[in-house]
Amino acid sequence: MSANIDEIADGIYRFSTFVPEIGPTGFTFNQYLIDDEQPLLFHTGPRAMFPLVSEAIESITPLQGLRWITFGHVEADECGGMNNLLAAAPQAEVAHGGLGCMVSLNDLADRPPVPLADGQVIELGRHRVRHIDTPHVPHGWEARVLYEESTKTLLCGDLFTQLGPGPALTGDDIVDPSGHAEDVFGATCLTPRTGSTIRELADLEPTTLAVMHGSCFSGDTRAALNALADDYDQRLDAAR
Ligand SMILES: [Fe+2]
Ligand SMILES: [Fe+2]
Repeated sequence: MSANIDEIADGIYRFSTFVPEIGPTGFTFNQYLIDDEQPLLFHTGPRAMFPLVSEAIESITPLQGLRWITFGHVEADECGGMNNLLAAAPQAEVAHGGLGCMVSLNDLADRPPVPLADGQVIELGRHRVRHIDTPHVPHGWEARVLYEESTKTLLCGDLFTQLGPGPALTGDDIVDPSGHAEDVFGATCLTPRTGSTIRELADLEPTTLAVMHGSCFSGDTRAALNALADDYDQRLDAAR
């Protein structure tokens, strides 16, 4: 078994593994490698996927040269392989928001993580990633996204989660499929700040949305993000 590998933006590779047993129609787990002078991984995959993810990294760049280990929030599919990667890549550091470091990662990571302030940028070479705090969006107090500024790629983690297999990149609607996944899993933390946090991401006007579970999207990302925000606001209103 190997991950499917696709370059979804210049120098940004999507590693995708489809697991048919999860959910009614199967589920993908995606990691993103930004290949640059300082290679960065967004999502490690769970520990059990470490052999798959390390093989995928090796196909693009030497694993031991990995510089940054990043993820959206603290869950097994986002960061379960963190310590395996720290052991395999001697110069690698985990970088996350200061809150996530204080609450969890200072304890969980085998080497001290690098705490980032909201809006802080890491220069990778020709790519630069901006850390954006999104507390409880989609879930987890320490939640955040990364925005790669040179390609305008929003590494948006569990936002736009879709069930089943699909292409690496699509221009088709991903908002309705995300609503269906929300109906099935109920994974999103619905708060009065959920919609407004996602609308702030829409203002970035990304070219590409890099999704953790499902297809990436390229097209009118502002409309997609605003529609997702509206959907969550409606779910919150309905639950009140
Ligand atoms: Fe998650
Ligand atoms: Fe996830």
